[in-house]
Amino acid sequence: MNTMSIPWPRRHADDLAWHALLDRASALYRPAGRYAWHFARGKLRLDPVFRHLVEAGLVPAGARVLDLGCGQGLLGSLLQAAGPVRYTGVELQARDAGRARVALGTSSGAEIVCGDVRTQAFPVSDTVVLLDVLHYLPPAAQEAVLARACAALAPGGRLLLRVGDAEARRGYAFGRWVDRVVSGLRRGAPPVQGRPVPDWIDRLRALGLQVEARPMSQGTLFANVLLVAQRREGAAA
Ligand SMILES: C[S@@+](CC[C@H](N)C(=O)[O-])C[C@H]1O[C@@H](n2cnc3c(N)ncnc32)[C@H](O)[C@@H]1O
Repeated sequence: MNTMSIPWPRRHADDLAWHALLDRASALYRPAGRYAWHFARGKLRLDPVFRHLVEAGLVPAGARVLDLGCGQGLLGSLLQAAGPVRYTGVELQARDAGRARVALGTSSGAEIVCGDVRTQAFPVSDTVVLLDVLHYLPPAAQEAVLARACAALAPGGRLLLRVGDAEARRGYAFGRWVDRVVSGLRRGAPPVQGRPVPDWIDRLRALGLQVEARPMSQGTLFANVLLVAQRREGAAA
């Protein structure tokens, strides 16, 4: 979205609405501790993907959302701050899954599963989200998870995949470096394998999806791209 083409009063109103939502979403993390709260505020503010998902209406109200590799459930917190949710997050790291559970609660329509996306069953969903996750898996597992994520989409459903573009040298190298540092600090597995964006697009097309690529690292040094994928009209699941 080119924000410069939006008239100033509307941009100002959009900014106010976004910051109010961000405040409500990050406040959900207060019971989960100072780290969780600061992390939520910082990431929701600095990473353009979250605001884009909300403002571009990529996750419709009431949609069944499956967030694979959800971390501490930031997308879930935004959705919950905006209204009732049907959100399932799957996360490998028990500490992150625990923070997500504390923030989102258990009676809210949110469910957080501590599990591995390679083996966890996926519920039928209107929106499946994979933000910065697949590069932690080896290539064959990436393809298997993508195929199962695609199979879990309800008719008309949408798959939202954010990846680093392995062809963009500097931005991609920067992302790898950040991932390694963060994995070391969190004692998680380091990233394994990225791909050039055209390769990700080919994979999604081979699964019968139509794909649109949107640059998604504005204001950062990363080379991230959001792939918005939907099943082609008339294509079988
Ligand atoms: C860079 S973080 C992104 C978190 C979240 N998607 C976000 O955007 O805030 C990647 C997450 O994927 C999780 N992850 C990596 N491999 C996983 C797997 N096999 N199953 C489930 N989660 C996994 C990591 O533990 C980490 O929380």
